Amino acid sequence: MARKPSVRQLIDWDHRHLWHPFTQMQEWEQEEPLIIERGKGSYLIDTEGKRYLDGISSIWVNLHGHGHPTLDRAIKRQLDKIAHSSLFGLSNPPAIQLARALIQIAPKGLTRVFYSDNGSTAVEIALKMAIQYWQQRRPDAGPKQTFLHLRLAYHGDTVGAVSVGNIELFHSRFKSLLFPTLEADPPYCYRCPLNLTYPSCQMACLDPIEQILKEHHRELAGFIIEPLVQAAAGMLTSPPGYLKRVRELCTKYDVLLIADEVATGFGRTGKMFACQHEGVTPDLMAISKGLTGGYMPLAATLTTDEIYQGFLGKYEEFKTFFHGHSYTGNPLGCAVALANLDVFKKEKTLARLQPKIKTMARLLRPLRGLPHVGDIRQRGFIAAVELVEERRTQKPYPLEARMGHRVTQEARRQGLLLRPLGHIIVLMPPLSTDVSTLARMMAILHRSIATVTASP
Ligand SMILES: Cc1ncc(COP(=O)(O)O)c(C=O)c1O
Repeated sequence: MARKPSVRQLIDWDHRHLWHPFTQMQEWEQEEPLIIERGKGSYLIDTEGKRYLDGISSIWVNLHGHGHPTLDRAIKRQLDKIAHSSLFGLSNPPAIQLARALIQIAPKGLTRVFYSDNGSTAVEIALKMAIQYWQQRRPDAGPKQTFLHLRLAYHGDTVGAVSVGNIELFHSRFKSLLFPTLEADPPYCYRCPLNLTYPSCQMACLDPIEQILKEHHRELAGFIIEPLVQAAAGMLTSPPGYLKRVRELCTKYDVLLIADEVATGFGRTGKMFACQHEGVTPDLMAISKGLTGGYMPLAATLTTDEIYQGFLGKYEEFKTFFHGHSYTGNPLGCAVALANLDVFKKEKTLARLQPKIKTMARLLRPLRGLPHVGDIRQRGFIAAVELVEERRTQKPYPLEARMGHRVTQEARRQGLLLRPLGHIIVLMPPLSTDVSTLARMMAILHRSIATVTASP
């Protein structure tokens, strides 16, 4: 076996050979990388043994903490049987059991599970299913070939997912690759596009959406939305009743509702799925991230029997959904996802989360006293703090000021790992984080914002 490389060597090889996501590598190469070697509970531990609080659940995936014995065991047990066999013309026990378990906890009416391996592919699959469904099941409904989505939406980085996204900084370079879509303003209450205030606005932002649906429903295959929390946009929380109204509009205008629960699924908002807060069943639902408790790359697209039926027919009718990935239904991923759902039950994760959500709200309140905190948003165990250069006018910091980056660097020095969304700081700890650990995270967050925003 090769000799274990030293930390120096790892740093050197990282700088020479790795290309990190969403990272300016010129800057990266000049810094000492933080190399995480181990994890325990809400902590990540680097190659020097230094412990850091995982304030964003390792990019919003971890739920029950790192190194959870039930999840560890599930992978080891499955590994004793087989690591991978495919779902192309075959099946495997964990994939079958997980599909059944997911249907039991999903919004009522979702009956089928199509696996893939990350959030972007789960979204791509939903888009492709929607397009093919209309062609095969309802050709009379119109040439339904495009999608409606919200501005600032983020549904992943593959080309289809980028087409229904709208984050200028990430997406503008790829415009030539993208298919045309229709866009509407999001319910960004802090910076309301209509200059109104909730609740007196009566959610007037839904009127332009209804107008688009009225005018374009014959072209629209679906409306894709991040339910309750538009995550990468900066954790924009929609007002109560907004999602339910979107569901009603989609039904009224015969447009499929696609819920992207990649970030919001698996307890983050306080219920298993965000849609369940408003009794909404989407026609298609994309899940990933928390599906395996943050252990393995696995994703799924769930849909209704109505959609599924549209794909049935004799082979020579070619109604098959011609889509699949080498690792579709990977048994290791499915086994750990099943264990994840077991932990939810055994540890009463959702019931135990409710008081912690309240504590989070209480601990967020004092941040309002900081002069550069413009807005604080929370939904369930997801929090975001929007920093502004000037509170009175809500003037944002310029991107070049890298305020979010500077705050998260300071938090890292103090032992808390975060990742900003521009000048918005996100806190999204594992659901298992206890109250005292949460308080420690909050205290560091407060100190870091105070320190960094105090200096120009
Ligand atoms: C709402 C939403 N959809 C899709 C994705 C893409 O998931 P992945 O990074 O696994 O491709 C993300 C990732 O952050 C997300 O937040």
